[in-house]
Amino acid sequence: MDIQRNVSLKDYNTFGLDVKAAALVEFHTEEELLKLLQNPEVQKKNLILGGGSNVLLSQDFEGVILLNRIKGIEIQEEDENEVVVRFGAGENWHESVLHCIDQGWAGIENLSLIPGNIGAAPMQNIGAYGVELVQVFRSLRAINRETREVREFNEKACEFGYRSSIFKTRLKEVFVIVSVDLVLQKKAELNTSYGAIREELEHRGIKEPSIRDVSDAVIAIRRSKLPDPAHIGNAGSFFKNPVITLGHFLTIRMRHPNIPSYQVGKGEVKIPAGWLIEQCGWKGKDLGGYGVHDKQALVLVNRGGGSGEAIHKLSLNIQESVYQKFHINLEREVNLI
Ligand code: FAD
Ligand code: EPU
Repeated sequence: MDIQRNVSLKDYNTFGLDVKAAALVEFHTEEELLKLLQNPEVQKKNLILGGGSNVLLSQDFEGVILLNRIKGIEIQEEDENEVVVRFGAGENWHESVLHCIDQGWAGIENLSLIPGNIGAAPMQNIGAYGVELVQVFRSLRAINRETREVREFNEKACEFGYRSSIFKTRLKEVFVIVSVDLVLQKKAELNTSYGAIREELEHRGIKEPSIRDVSDAVIAIRRSKLPDPAHIGNAGSFFKNPVITLGHFLTIRMRHPNIPSYQVGKGEVKIPAGWLIEQCGWKGKDLGGYGVHDKQALVLVNRGGGSGEAIHKLSLNIQESVYQKFHINLEREVNLI
């Protein structure tokens, strides 16, 4: 295991931010990770990265970046209906989705084209187009960074919520996830309830979609809205969609009759943060090489001229203006480092 010194992290985060790390090292097995966790320099300060697609690196990192590269896709159990598959945390998420589609395993096709690695997927219970990771999740293995204890977490122990889990809250930065087991279906029960998927399938003239058809539809929708980090730096949705009380919603609707909303529970309503941000005039904003995406106001972008600090400041200004106009606090989805 080669420890590199004074490394630029530009190629290791999808915002393309050129901050420096004091050190960086890849690990490919649990044994390598356990060894690294005994190194005093690593013990002092470390950060696990997968694809770097959900982080805002706001300054140089005075510690060791641990790049998770644990590979492997293995069947654990199967019967005529289901298969339980173990994925190494360093496997790429989207390539794993495509692998499952090739095998005829359904369950994660709606999560096609989400950047990043398997190991970070439970961190925020990734979700898109009517499906969340929790719906296919069986368990995961993780290693405590301090004690080096290996622990298995079932679904309940992960405390999954909307863009949240115990690893983003109570156990933030305590464990390194090394593998994830998912339960996939051999007899596909496809989820095409999301309006945009139905419209895309109709547009393609597909009445009885296959798993791949759903994946292709999701890929097309995503490509039409979200910037490709290979061309424009970004980390997907920067904030979560806020949930407010019905009373608060009705007050806002008096002044904004077109406000979009989804009912989430009794007396609670989820509002698309992208709409709130657009209403505050931020959509498409360019502040000199960074700003807000022109097709999706929830996505902050680095067009080549942004620093982590500047994008952080922009995010605070957006939060402030949404609060001033709507009395809604936007919670960051991206992990600020
Ligand atoms: P990283 O950015 O490397 O890490 C994210 C966080 O997890 C960090 O705090 C890191 O320390 C921690 N972490 C990473 N790996 C581990 C590990 N093995 N063990 C413990 N902690 C770890 N997300 C969605 O939910 N839905 C979407 O539709 C979606 N669309 C996106 C579209 C674009 C264009 C982009 C750029 C991002 C999008 N995202 C979306 C966000 C992102 O892709 C996911 O959160 C993804 O799971 C992050 O994976 P990563 O490997 O890049 O994580
Ligand atoms: N909208 C606007 N203006 C905008 C953007 C959106 O008015 O600039 C409104 C529109 O009414 C639109 C609605 O917001 O219909 C919803 O927009 P979209 O379908 O693009 O979804 P989103 O709520 O902005 C969420 C997730 C995405 C996920 C998509 C699809 C969050 C924070 N974001 O976005 O996840 O891919 O739904 O399911 O929940 C991510 O987490 O990084 C991410 C990209």
